[in-house]
Amino acid sequence: MTKVPFFDLKKQFLPLREEILNEVAAVCDEQAFILGAKVEKLEEAIVSLCGEGYAVGVSSGTDAELLILMALGIGPGDAVVTTPFTFFSTAGCIARLGAKPAFVDIDPETFCLSPKKLELFFSTECTFEENVLRTREGFRVKAVIPIHLFGLCCHMDEIQAVCAPYALPVIEDAAQAIGADYPSSVGIKHAGGIGEFGYFSFYPTKNLGAFGDAGMAIAKDSRLGDRMKALRNHGMKPKYCHEFVGGNFRLDALQAAILLKKLPYLAGWSKRRWTIAQHYRERFANLAPEIRLPDEPYVEQLGHRGHIYHQFVVRSTKRDELRDYLRESGIGTEIFYPVSLNRQKCFAYLHGGPFPESEAAARQVLAFPVFPELTDNEVELVADTVTAFLKK
Ligand SMILES: Cc1ncc(COP(=O)(O)O)c(C=O)c1O
Repeated sequence: MTKVPFFDLKKQFLPLREEILNEVAAVCDEQAFILGAKVEKLEEAIVSLCGEGYAVGVSSGTDAELLILMALGIGPGDAVVTTPFTFFSTAGCIARLGAKPAFVDIDPETFCLSPKKLELFFSTECTFEENVLRTREGFRVKAVIPIHLFGLCCHMDEIQAVCAPYALPVIEDAAQAIGADYPSSVGIKHAGGIGEFGYFSFYPTKNLGAFGDAGMAIAKDSRLGDRMKALRNHGMKPKYCHEFVGGNFRLDALQAAILLKKLPYLAGWSKRRWTIAQHYRERFANLAPEIRLPDEPYVEQLGHRGHIYHQFVVRSTKRDELRDYLRESGIGTEIFYPVSLNRQKCFAYLHGGPFPESEAAARQVLAFPVFPELTDNEVELVADTVTAFLKK
């Protein structure tokens, strides 16, 4: 019997049921479903959250990334740098455009792109001639996608400093990090608003989740933002005129209306996730080395906004036994992600690596339940069960 589920969306919906269903009814009464005023309002709200930029509401986080890469004209002969320790779509979008995903390993503390390894990749595995950065095989490096994995921003100052000499745009994968802050050297910045581009996913289980698929792409440059707006609707601008070939990446009014209703709750939900994470941290503080806690490099400066704990992910050398024990005890867990992307069959042709940190993470990570509606008693039960396993 399930005692503590890994996630329970119904608990979030119940108290908001009436509010949300009224919004849904209002959109149905209007019978205007594609783009429109609700989508524009959501775009404005997300720009405020990011601090600056130009937002384009789209059909998913994946499509947001695809749109940005299309706006940059990325295609065959190009390479885009990212890490192999992420959800598939980050690398999948690069490959779908005919470009090469160039993997660089993660920092084992944060699970994010390592600025040092990125620098090493550029200096030892690429050439830079006539202002063009190329991989050894001749692919032109066009952009870098750091992933703010599990709700923690990457070390963006360092990453941007490494990219600057090559004028490479940095595209933040902020799919898991909406509302997370980053203490840059010039002040506090917000996930999605740090690089030249950023994108969010509103997949239902994200900190801000839609009732289906939805996403948002952000550009600093309004000219590129305009291009993204055209590309999300078949590259059409004005009506029935197509300067570029785009796609149907439009966000619909129902999702935008629901997201707008949920948005005011986001900060409170993320803070509750952080409180739960602190509870786990206290309980697991003495369980090293069997349990390695997630890194919180910015929390001293930023408090709970330094990590929004989309996931609470520990490392354990006994990960699989621990997971089995928790499952038998009725506690849900997940593995994000069990296979480093360089090991995926579809990327076998890339022949990169080695990526020892990504592969070690794939063997050791385990995510515990962390959602705002989780009760203190449930958190205690998870912690007691983990402790009992290690004391066996
Ligand atoms: C890190 C990361 N990137 C991209 C995506 C893609 O977002 P979506 O599922 O909305 O297409 C996700 C969503 O799961 C994600 O976690």
